[in-house]
Amino acid sequence: TRVAVLYGGRSGEHEVSLQSAASVIRHLDRDRFEVVPVSIDKAGRWQRHDLRRITQTADTALAIPPESPEVRLAQGADGRGRLVPLAGEPEEVDVVFPVLHGPLCEDGTLQGLLELTEVAYVGSGVLASAVGMDKDVTKRLAGLAGIPIAPYRAFTRRAYEGGAVSVQEIAASLRLPVFVKPCNMGSSVGIHKVKEWDALAAALDDAFQYDVKVLVEQGIDAREIEVAVLDGVPPFVSVASELNPQPHHDFYSYAAKYLDPEGASVDLPAKLTPEQMERVRALALEAFAALECSGLARVDFFLDRQSGAFYLNEVNTLPGFTAISMYPKMMEASGVPYPELLTRLVELALE
Ligand code: DAL
Ligand code: MG
Repeated sequence: TRVAVLYGGRSGEHEVSLQSAASVIRHLDRDRFEVVPVSIDKAGRWQRHDLRRITQTADTALAIPPESPEVRLAQGADGRGRLVPLAGEPEEVDVVFPVLHGPLCEDGTLQGLLELTEVAYVGSGVLASAVGMDKDVTKRLAGLAGIPIAPYRAFTRRAYEGGAVSVQEIAASLRLPVFVKPCNMGSSVGIHKVKEWDALAAALDDAFQYDVKVLVEQGIDAREIEVAVLDGVPPFVSVASELNPQPHHDFYSYAAKYLDPEGASVDLPAKLTPEQMERVRALALEAFAALECSGLARVDFFLDRQSGAFYLNEVNTLPGFTAISMYPKMMEASGVPYPELLTRLVELALE
């Protein structure tokens, strides 16, 4: 089976993807799969690489050798997808593994292209990918399904600049601190913790650099709990983990996640009561179903330290797969070793 591993991408999480893909390529079962590495650079150019070349030096992050031939994905005469070099023979692939994160990667746009070219691919389809990338629509759908969500406001730049939403009005509906987030982003890119209302406008301005819609979420004194879901009948739900960002990081930021090797400590499994563990695993499954996810998802929650309530934070349809990422670790801790997890994901895509 020829597996095209797509990596890089045109999003603010390009560098995270280089790390995720290095780890995925290292763990894919070479006896079963022929790995075809294809990068997407920040300008959107697709290149087909020699596997040996990019893994020779790559330890934790893949490279994008500039001289590799440029390719595109196109439908062949038989209706099936092919990698087509600008010069040379088309190349068949059986399945695409998008190891990409963020807008234009994880948000249904790429999945739409893969649908059009009729190539099998790992992970959620267009709808769940698009919904999962949009933190506002995620919460609305989850709320409809009865999954608890914390208070928040979402609005567009146009509504904000046009005066339909004001700092005063937000201050009247939420308590400090609040979190300001671009609606469609990942890895905490563009997220600000706001402790004074005077700082809200600057945080909004920055978040609007990344997206035309932002959220202002009620900050909760909460523990961060994550659960991994692997599709199947019924889907397999991992044990939950807990992320403890170190106190010098104000929250579980991009820096705490990827730049500081000791940015966060992990409890795997999370130190929860058996009832809490069952509750959060059940909620993860409900969120997976409510968003109509397929393949995989990492579902992130807040556990309110005061009330003991869980709130859905977000659903990641292509969660991080780096050496320190939680999705594969949670699966491993739940009895699914990394190579087996990848095999299962590819098999699900081919079903
Ligand atoms: N968005 C990052 C990759 C994650 O969810 O792990
Ligand atoms: Mg995310």
